[in-house]
Amino acid sequence: MNEVLIQARNLCMSYRTGRERIEVLRGLSLELRRGEAVAIVGPSGSGKSTLLNLLNGLQRPDSGQLRVFGREQADLGEDGWAELRRTRIATLFQDGNLIPTLTVARNIAFRAGLAGLGQHGGQALLERLDIAATAQRYPDQLSGGQRQRAALACAFAMQPQVILADEPTGSLDQATAQRVAPLFFDAIRERAVAALIVTHNAELARRCDRVLELRQGALSPWDSALSS
Ligand SMILES: Nc1ncnc2c1ncn2[C@@H]1O[C@H](COP(=O)(O)OP(=O)(O)O)[C@@H](O)[C@H]1O
Ligand SMILES: [Mg+2]
Repeated sequence: MNEVLIQARNLCMSYRTGRERIEVLRGLSLELRRGEAVAIVGPSGSGKSTLLNLLNGLQRPDSGQLRVFGREQADLGEDGWAELRRTRIATLFQDGNLIPTLTVARNIAFRAGLAGLGQHGGQALLERLDIAATAQRYPDQLSGGQRQRAALACAFAMQPQVILADEPTGSLDQATAQRVAPLFFDAIRERAVAALIVTHNAELARRCDRVLELRQGALSPWDSALSS
């Protein structure tokens, strides 16, 4: 069995707004191993984005255990998490990760540079995603689907070991989504990265090693027969 990169046990997480307290995660457990792709499905508001932000350290759980790359989250501290986000854990947020004042090409170079990589193969990534022509454009000059693909290129340019992707094909049409999917699976195979992909795209989910459903604050194997 491959090395466990992320291990979460019994994570609980709630939000407070005024007097109200919303319990989002209630004892969630998950293991993500090197080389595997896991899809997360679940209704809107079920806590999928919250889960990703616990796994990249942008938010902290109320309770539970979280180990990433063999280290306890409590021992990582802000600097440890920042280092992981810079070099090992790429997050593709739902609404874009691009710096508005940089062109697509410079966004990629910036991201790769942060991770300490000089050679980032940015142009090849853009070609593979069919957006080579956007290299010199700024994010606000792109369509939603182009922006999403440019963000993908940035994430891959840092050569992460874990990719946390929040609806990476959400604003892509079916044909483009089908072109983007192989990028994930190639990266997983070629570099033994692990991917956690929040997706409603059945095609993308089917290609993952496992599909888990987030419901009532916990994960369970997704039974597609029940949902269709
Ligand atoms: N910063 C926040 N403050 C208060 N409630 C939040 C906050 N972020 C998310 N929520 C609530 O937590 C629940 C889970 O949100 P989220 O993780 O974004 O779900 P999903 O990504 O599955 O749609 C939702 O009910 C949402 O309204
Ligand atoms: Mg979300």
